[in-house]
Amino acid sequence: MKEETKTAIVLAGVAISFAGLAVVFFTLSAIDERPAPRIVMVDSGFLDTSPVRMNYAAMVEAGEDIFDYDCYLCHSRREPVELQFDELGGLILEEHDYITFEHGPSRENNYCFNCHDRDQLDRLRTQYGTTLTFEESTQLCGSCHGTTLRDWKQDAHGRTGGYWNLAMGERTRLDCTECHDPHDTRFPTLEPAPGPHSMKNRIIVSPENNRDP
Ligand code: HEC
Ligand code: HEC
Ligand code: HEC
Ligand code: HEC
Repeated sequence: MKEETKTAIVLAGVAISFAGLAVVFFTLSAIDERPAPRIVMVDSGFLDTSPVRMNYAAMVEAGEDIFDYDCYLCHSRREPVELQFDELGGLILEEHDYITFEHGPSRENNYCFNCHDRDQLDRLRTQYGTTLTFEESTQLCGSCHGTTLRDWKQDAHGRTGGYWNLAMGERTRLDCTECHDPHDTRFPTLEPAPGPHSMKNRIIVSPENNRDP
C-alpha cells in the first residue's frame, strides 16, 4: 500500500470516530431531563468596597454622631485626667469600659497617653511630642510603625485606589484607622465570597434561573 493511502485511511478512521462520539454525546445530553440547578446570585454585599471601619474623619464627613470624640463634653479642661489602676496594675476604665484593648498580642499598648494628649484630650500626641488632630491619626500610627507607614506610602500596605496616572485624577489611600481599630488593632475576619459556579448540567444563565426566590 502506498504511504498516502495509509494516511488517508487513518485520517478517515479518526474522522468517523469523532463523528460517532459527537452523535453519542448529543443523544446523551438530549435525554438528560434533570432540571438545571438554580444559580443563586452572589450577595451584593461582597461587592461593597467601603472600608471595614468608619473612623473619625469618615464620621465627620458622613455627618454621624461624634459624641465619643467630644472629650470635653465630660472632662474638664482645668483638671487633667488621672489614670486609675487596680492592685495588679491594670487600667480601670470606668466610663470607657466599652473600649476593648488588644493592640497587638501582648495587649500592653493600652496606656492612653501613648497616643492621646494628656493636656488636650481632643488631640493625639506622638512619642516625639507632635500634636495631631484625630483626622491625622495615620501619622500617629506611623510614628511607632515606621516600616508599615513606609509600605503604606509605597502602596504595599493598605488599599491604594484612584489613578496611577496623576494627570487623570487623584490617588487615594485609606487611613490606618479605616482598617484597624486603634484600641483593638486586629483586622476583622471577613467571610469569603462563594467560588465561581461550575456551569455543569447545561445551564443557560438567564435572569429567570438566576434570581433568588
Ligand atoms: C460621655 C462622657 C465622656 C466622654 C465623651 C469622654 N470621656 Fe473620658 N472619661 C469619662 C469618665 C466619667 C471617666 C472616669 C473618671 C475620670 O477619670 O475622669 C473617664 C476617664 C478617662 C480617662 C482615664 C482612664 C482611667 O484609667 O480611668 C482617659 C484617658 C479618658 N477618659 C480620655 C478621654 C478621651 C481622649 C476622650 C475623647 C476622645 C474622652 N475621654 C471622652 C467620661 C467621658
Ligand atoms: C506608642 C507606639 C504605638 C503607636 C502610636 C501605635 N502602635 Fe501599633 N503597636 C505598637 C506596639 C509596641 C505593638 C506590638 C505590641 C505587641 O507585640 O503586643 C503594636 C502592634 C500593632 C498591631 C499588631 C501587630 C501584630 O503583629 O499583630 C497593629 C495592627 C498595629 N499596632 C496598628 C496600629 C495602628 C493602626 C496605629 C494607629 C492608630 C498604631 N498601631 C499606633 C506600638 C504603637
Ligand atoms: C495606640 C494609640 C491609642 C491608645 C493607646 C489609646 N487610644 Fe484612644 N484613640 C486613638 C485614636 C487614633 C483614636 C481616633 C480613632 C478614629 O479616628 O476612629 C482614638 C479614639 C478614642 C476615643 C473616641 C472614640 C471611641 O472609641 O470612643 C476615646 C474615648 C478614646 N480613644 C479613649 C482612650 C482611652 C481611655 C485610652 C486608654 C485607656 C485610649 N484611648 C488609648 C488612639 C489610641
Ligand atoms: C485596607 C486596610 C488596611 C489599611 C489601610 C492598613 N492596614 Fe495594616 N493590616 C491590614 C491587614 C488586612 C493586615 C493583616 C491582618 C492583621 O494582622 O490584622 C494588616 C497588618 C498590619 C500590621 C501587622 C504587621 C504587618 O505588617 O503585617 C501592622 C503593624 C499594621 N497593619 C499597621 C498599619 C498602619 C500603621 C497603617 C497605616 C499607615 C495600616 N496598617 C493601614 C489592613 C490594613
